[in-house]
Amino acid sequence: MLFFLLSAFFFVFSTAVPWSASPFNPSSIPLAVRTPYLSTWLPQGSGTPLNGAWPQHWTGQTVGWSGFIKVDGTPYSFLGEPAIPASFAKATQKSMEFTSTQSVFVMSAGAVDLTITFLSPVEPNDLSKQSFPFAYMALSAASTDGNSYTVQLYSDISAEWVSGDSSLPVNWTTSTGADTLVHQVQLQTQTPFVETSDRILQGSVFYSTTVASGVTYQTGEDVVVRSQFVNSSVLLNTKDTNFRAISNAWPVFAFAHDLGKVTGTPSNPVVVSVGHVRDPVVSYIVAGGKLQDRSSYFWNQFSDVTDAITSFLQEYGDTLSRNSKFDAQVQSDASAISADYAAIVALSIRQTLGATEITISKNDDGSWNTSDVLVFMKEISSDGNVNTVDVIFPAYPLLLYVNPLLAKYLLAGLFEYQATGQYPNKFSVHDLGADYPKAIGHNAGDDEAMPVEESGNMLIMALSYAQKSGDNSQLMTYASLLDQWTQFLISDSLIPESQISTDDFAGKLTNQTNLAIKGIVGIKAMSVIAGILGDSEKSSNYSSTADSYIGRWQSLAINPDQSHLTLSYGNSSSWGLAYNLYADKLLKLNLFPDSVYQMQTNWYRSVQQPYGVALDTRHTYTKSDWQIWTAAIMTDTNARDMFISAVKKTASNGLSSQPFADWYEARDGTPEGFRARPVVGGHLALVR
Ligand SMILES: *[C@@H]1O[C@H](CO)[C@@H](O)[C@H](O)[C@H]1NC(C)=O
Ligand SMILES: *[C@@H]1O[C@H](CO)[C@@H](O)[C@H](O)[C@H]1NC(C)=O
Ligand SMILES: *[C@@H]1O[C@H](CO)[C@@H](O)[C@H](O)[C@H]1NC(C)=O
Ligand SMILES: *[C@@H]1O[C@H](CO)[C@@H](O)[C@H](O)[C@H]1NC(C)=O
Ligand SMILES: *[C@@H]1O[C@H](CO)[C@@H](O)[C@H](O)[C@H]1NC(C)=O
Ligand SMILES: *[C@@H]1O[C@H](CO)[C@@H](O)[C@H](O)[C@H]1NC(C)=O
Repeated sequence: MLFFLLSAFFFVFSTAVPWSASPFNPSSIPLAVRTPYLSTWLPQGSGTPLNGAWPQHWTGQTVGWSGFIKVDGTPYSFLGEPAIPASFAKATQKSMEFTSTQSVFVMSAGAVDLTITFLSPVEPNDLSKQSFPFAYMALSAASTDGNSYTVQLYSDISAEWVSGDSSLPVNWTTSTGADTLVHQVQLQTQTPFVETSDRILQGSVFYSTTVASGVTYQTGEDVVVRSQFVNSSVLLNTKDTNFRAISNAWPVFAFAHDLGKVTGTPSNPVVVSVGHVRDPVVSYIVAGGKLQDRSSYFWNQFSDVTDAITSFLQEYGDTLSRNSKFDAQVQSDASAISADYAAIVALSIRQTLGATEITISKNDDGSWNTSDVLVFMKEISSDGNVNTVDVIFPAYPLLLYVNPLLAKYLLAGLFEYQATGQYPNKFSVHDLGADYPKAIGHNAGDDEAMPVEESGNMLIMALSYAQKSGDNSQLMTYASLLDQWTQFLISDSLIPESQISTDDFAGKLTNQTNLAIKGIVGIKAMSVIAGILGDSEKSSNYSSTADSYIGRWQSLAINPDQSHLTLSYGNSSSWGLAYNLYADKLLKLNLFPDSVYQMQTNWYRSVQQPYGVALDTRHTYTKSDWQIWTAAIMTDTNARDMFISAVKKTASNGLSSQPFADWYEARDGTPEGFRARPVVGGHLALVR
């Protein structure tokens, strides 16, 4: 009987979603995710189809994006949850598939299947393309019964793409150029570099498509424009110029495409693009406290945003094949670990890169300085800091994997700022600014202090970039800062005083084993760096220091019964994820003896919970990034796969409808406070 009940339960559970999902149904599906402000997701939860909810910004705010298809005159909705006076049916979702760059839905509308491809390009080897804050939606229809049908397609966006505060007034234009139709929407009152509720009060949203016969447009009140299409299959090419608040008779910005007859052969894709552009993007502190305006990298190739949009639309085919190739490479690399692992990796890539922006500055004569590249990352959802060192650190495996140059350019601003001498502390700064996108530094030295954490992180990241790329220039330029942080670690990392680590929500603690690991690895990293820079005396001095610390650390950190590392020295009932050991493996230092790895492998196996291993003994929650880092140091594949399946199980448990939460409860998989954070780049720790 019990067996029967259990299997009935699992039967119901597994059929809760009536469509096929590959590789699985995540809590939220990326639709258009390129920057902290262009970040639109389908809140799928335990099974909401594409036309069962409005898309959301990562903050959870509604983002209006609706779509209809008409098949021989019969209207169906395929995207969003529009409510209009005219009647229509809902298309039925048949499948959902996501890769690293795409989310692809097939929806059936009568005898026609519509394939909707949301492509958020990942272009790590082309800074111009990677910095272009746009995504595609491509629509292709085919009949399923061999007959032909007339098909028209419709989609629109609302002004909610501009702001989550729908009381704000917006204005808009539609430009009908020779090549491209462009709807542009923006706040009437612009405030550079200022956010409310994590949305920027600056810039414009663009919704665009290529000019062709059978394409019509319209702007106006949501119910009016949508019913116009549903009733008449065509839009009126009219512009509403009554500028008003986002929620005042909700203005929408629409296109319709008449495909004519559609047969069993998939129609050529109808491509629309959506983007959020602002200029400048970041305010950045340079020497003497001066603030420099920085712009998106792509501006060095385009002086006009319409030209950039036109080429983006025209390049859809090439972009799709390039991105599909990238997807296949990631899939092949990650599948070498396991199918579950490949699934987690595919879900993590857009989330991580969607927190970043690539920038350049201007020369005095107004031309672009493309030798001056800085990448910025928003600490999404936890506190919105700029280039938080201990958020870049977990994401580092992804950066090293996709293109180590992105890693270098993320560190560059932190190095540059501290080299100006404006930051007063002897350890590394925590971040470049409290509020994205203001990279204004912390000249008072009152940033969230994580002395051992950030100093160790900078040393580890700088060396791993050089090792991966063969480029030692950053090590040479910033040798004295690196040395300064090493001096700090020599005096403060073996016996770390009371402080927080990156897991600041867990609180302060003295003598943290895992922090000491980071500090000692940092010292050893500097010995390698000194060797690279030709200072063999310093190299051997730091190397012997690190080696001697390892011996002392073992006697302090290993529990007397040799069963595990303690969380803090001398506390036998404590333990935690010693994920900083991953840095020893990443840098190929072989600083810690194999016996430590062996011991931890056995230990974690003995303390696993249904959704993984707790972060430490102070609480029952855990972190997905640190679990995958820990997976990467396990001495056998069973223990490694235990962590991987725990993270996969969490990502697919349907307990939330928010972009993946790296921080969650290990006993039951419920998310804690974080969402959509770039730290999920740490899930690539096994494909580095
Ligand atoms: C819309 O508002 C912006 C910002 O205030 C202004 O620069 C622009 O000229 C306005 N556009 C229209 C079409 O009114
Ligand atoms: C569409 O048709 C419905 C009735 O079917 C009508 O109420 C509505 O006003 C029409 N809207 C437009 C814009 O044609
Ligand atoms: C461009 O930027 C680089 C790197 O910051 C700098 O060294 C160089 O002087 C800049 N070039 C000009 C012409 O300002
Ligand atoms: C930290 O560890 C050192 C070395 O065992 C010890 O001397 C010191 O008392 C510890 N500090 C605290 C607060 O437990
Ligand atoms: C490293 O150099 C410092 C300063 O010269 C010296 O005090 C220390 O003993 C040296 N350490 C080792 C392990 O050689
Ligand atoms: C030892 O660790 C446990 C678990 O983290 C904690 O509850 C306890 O307070 C710690 N004991 C001391 C003396 O710090």
